[in-house]
Amino acid sequence: MDDPLQLLSTWLDEGRAAVPYQDSMTLATATRDGRPSARVVLLRGIDEHGITFFTNRTSRKGEEVRHNPHAAAVVHWWELGRQVRIEGSVEETSDDESRAYWETRPRGSQLAAWASHQSQPLSGRNELDRRVAEMTERFAGADVPLPPFWGGYRITPTAIEFWTHRDDRLHDRIRYVRGPDGWREERLAP
Ligand SMILES: Cc1cc2nc3c(=O)[nH]c(=O)nc-3n(C[C@H](O)[C@H](O)[C@H](O)COP(=O)(O)O)c2cc1C
Repeated sequence: MDDPLQLLSTWLDEGRAAVPYQDSMTLATATRDGRPSARVVLLRGIDEHGITFFTNRTSRKGEEVRHNPHAAAVVHWWELGRQVRIEGSVEETSDDESRAYWETRPRGSQLAAWASHQSQPLSGRNELDRRVAEMTERFAGADVPLPPFWGGYRITPTAIEFWTHRDDRLHDRIRYVRGPDGWREERLAP
């Protein structure tokens, strides 16, 4: 396979067929001075440019990529004995792209995005419930618009590694590294 994004797309399809839940990935970002943090997000798109996820731009991950636009992500399928590791640069998707995804979200998720100052401390669950009630009233009878603080990010991979379980810990590891002339493929020791 010449194109690792195509291969990743195939693995995601095979994962979806094997495991009955949505695609998710562990996403690692880091502060400007390189302190990492990680969390799970949904992998919402993949094409020849990279992979996309959506979140609140003022969340911890949003703030981290604003100051340090690099990320790593891991997808793991127990059932298939597979892992993919992705590294790359991160940029915001356009408002049109964010809006196109936003409009597919259930209304409850849209109201929750407006209500939640993601990653900020809350005085209690009541505060969140109150904010949801406020947003429900604010947007009553109307479409819930894309919040200015919410949207997508695209990871443009510079390296993608495909790991496959093999017996006796002799796993296969195939890494693709993007160079000036395209992808270079190498096999790594397990
Ligand atoms: C299966 C799963 C999927 C998730 N998907 C997303 C997502 O797509 N976007 C998002 O902002 N948070 C998602 N979350 C919540 C994040 O893991 C995290 O709690 C939140 O984004 C705040 O992270 P931060 O404080 O590091 O920014 C998901 C959590 C789980 C367990």
